[in-house]
Formats: sequence, C-alpha cells, structure tokens
Amino acid sequence: MNFSFNYRFTFLFLLFLNIIPNLNAQTPNSLKTAYKDDFLIGAALNKDYFLEKDPVANTIIVNNFNSITAENVMKSALIHPSYGKYDFELADKFVAFGQKNKMQIIGHTLIWHSQLSKYAELINNEANMRAFMKEHIETVAGRYAGKIKSWDVVNEALNEDGSMRKSVFYTLLGENFIKEAFELAAKADPQAELYYNDYNIEQPAKRAGAIKIIKDLKEKGIKIDGVGIQGHWSIKSLPLAEIEASIIAFSELGVKVAFTELDLTVIPNPWDLEGAEVSQDFRKFVGDPKMNPYPKKLPEPIQNSLSKNYQDLFKLFLKHKDKISRVTFWGVNDGSSWLNNWPIQGRTNYPLLFDRNYQPKPALEAVLGLKK
Ligand code: XIL
Repeated sequence: MNFSFNYRFTFLFLLFLNIIPNLNAQTPNSLKTAYKDDFLIGAALNKDYFLEKDPVANTIIVNNFNSITAENVMKSALIHPSYGKYDFELADKFVAFGQKNKMQIIGHTLIWHSQLSKYAELINNEANMRAFMKEHIETVAGRYAGKIKSWDVVNEALNEDGSMRKSVFYTLLGENFIKEAFELAAKADPQAELYYNDYNIEQPAKRAGAIKIIKDLKEKGIKIDGVGIQGHWSIKSLPLAEIEASIIAFSELGVKVAFTELDLTVIPNPWDLEGAEVSQDFRKFVGDPKMNPYPKKLPEPIQNSLSKNYQDLFKLFLKHKDKISRVTFWGVNDGSSWLNNWPIQGRTNYPLLFDRNYQPKPALEAVLGLKK
C-alpha cells in the first residue's frame, strides 16, 4: 500500500463518516434542506439581491431558499412603465438568477391596482382597460412562459368585508376582470400555476370573498391552481386558528395554499392604536418614538416572542403540509424588509429570520428546530 493510496483511502473513509464535509452537499440546517420534504421555502428578492451585490446575502439566499419572488421588478409600474413601453432588464436578471440557482421562480404580479402602470391608472373606459390587461398579460407572462412556477395573477381584489375592492379594474370591467385575467394568463403561460393572492384572507369575512372568487372560477371551468395568503402578521395577534381554518377551507376547494409574503412585525401598527378609526395618512407618526420602540436593539422578551410565533406558525404549516405548496418570506433580512418603511417611514423592524448582519436569529433556530 503506497502513501497516496493510503491518503485517498483515509480521505474517503472520513468522507464516509461525514467528518470532512462534502463540498457539494448543501449547508446542513438551511431552511430549504430542513423543509425539503414539506414545501418550498421562498424569499422575495429586491434587485440588490438578485444582482448579487453582497456575497454574504447571496450565500444566505442560495443556501436557504429554493424559490424566489420578485419583490418589485415584475409589477406593472416597473415592467410596463408607459403605453407600449416595457422594461424587462431587471425582471430578466431576476429570472436568470433563479434559473442559475435552480430555484422555483414566482411571478408577482400581473393584475394589481397598486404599483400599477401610470397610464393604466388613468384608463377610463372598458375597451381600453380590456386592451391593457390583454396586452400586459400576453407580453409579460408570455415572455417568461415555461420559466415561471406560478403567477400571482390577481393581487388584492378584495375589501376586508369580503366584497370586491373598487379598483380601476373592477370599476371598468366588473368582477369579470378576474376571470379574464386568469384566462389570459392560462393562455400566455400554460405551464405556470395560477394563484389568487391577497392579505387578511385568513379572516372569516375576507376569506369568504376569496372562496367566492375561487368557486366562481372553478364553476366556469377556468384554471386556478392556488391561493396565496400573504401573511403580513404581527407577533401581537398571530391569527393561528383562522389560518388553520383557511388552509382547510381553501384546500377543500381543490386549490393549493401558499403563504406568499410572510413576515411578522414586532412594532406597533397604527391601526392597532387607533382601533376602528383607521386613518390612511400615517405621516403624523413619522419620528414618533412610541411607534419605533426598538431603534437600536430588539429586547430579549420580544425576540423570544418572535421565535415562539414563528415556531407556532411552522408547526401549523407542518401539520397541513399536504395542502401547502410554499412558504415565502417577504425579504431576506431585517434590514431590507419593507416593514422598516411601511406603514410608517423610517422605523426599525425585526420581522424576519436573519438579522441586519445576516446572522441567524433565534427565530430561525426555532423554525429549524422543528425539523431536528
Ligand atoms: C411591497 C414591497 O415590498 C415594497 O418594496 C414596495 O415599496 C411596496 O410593495 N403586498 C404585496 C407586495 O403584494 O407586492 C408588497 O410589496 C407588500 C404588500
């Protein structure tokens, strides 16, 4: 036995014992490996992330997530800024990033009243709105056909009481706009799964509105594959029972359930303070220390509460994993979360599983701990 054989043998033996990490193996204990048999684990990416500006962030993303959603670049205001003009540069890069890393790519979103192309906002007759929807969906979903796992076809069409939001689409086309959007999407990208996506649809009244949308589409024979519960919740009031009831109710309709925009705020929401008197103008709270209680550091009891809430939530997700296709976090780390600037500008929030330095938070350990 010569030296080199010996060396090789020892190396293989250690590899067998898992003492030398196999460089090709995924980092153990990442979210996506822990939950690989349960559901996809996604993150919404802003452009700095998919342009790979920060190698530390990139390692976290690639190790932990097997699905990505465009946080902004596929919204109509960005991808279709004016009449006849499309800007695909960033969306193309987002898709290329997902393909390179073999991730399931989520298109967000085709028809939404917010971050809507300026010119579409100004459309005031039925024919032009119909033409906008047709051209927009054919062009955008058509361009990425075959590359997108699922599209959020229609986003946020409902009011809190379950009635239809009086969006520009509803006002000009009536509730048929949803059916038309799904038909156009199914034609433009026959392989993509098609989702209806909204927030607070775990709440009974709004849930009933979503159930009606899904049932109507199914009765008309129109393809809808899933429903996205956004999941922008608060550690003060995580609605676990309503979430469970919704998972069951939606899946009984024969659609998949995804949690599409998960984050848990740890700081006050203005509507909690004001009770029923919801003011839409929250600018008066900017700079108010009561609304930004942890500008430097998250106190331990709050950190613990965040971990507990995430753990309870993932326990529930695991219980219903047969009905859940994906759980996507709305961002990667606390520093880049939209919740630092919404609904009040300039706060310090801590809603995700990685802290501002991309260090794992106890909440990450709590979520991973369920799979040990
Ligand atoms: C948010 C983005 O995170 C922000 O960067 C942007 O300024 C506003 O939109 N529901 C949705 C998402 O469907 O598209 C929103 O994303 C968050 C609420």
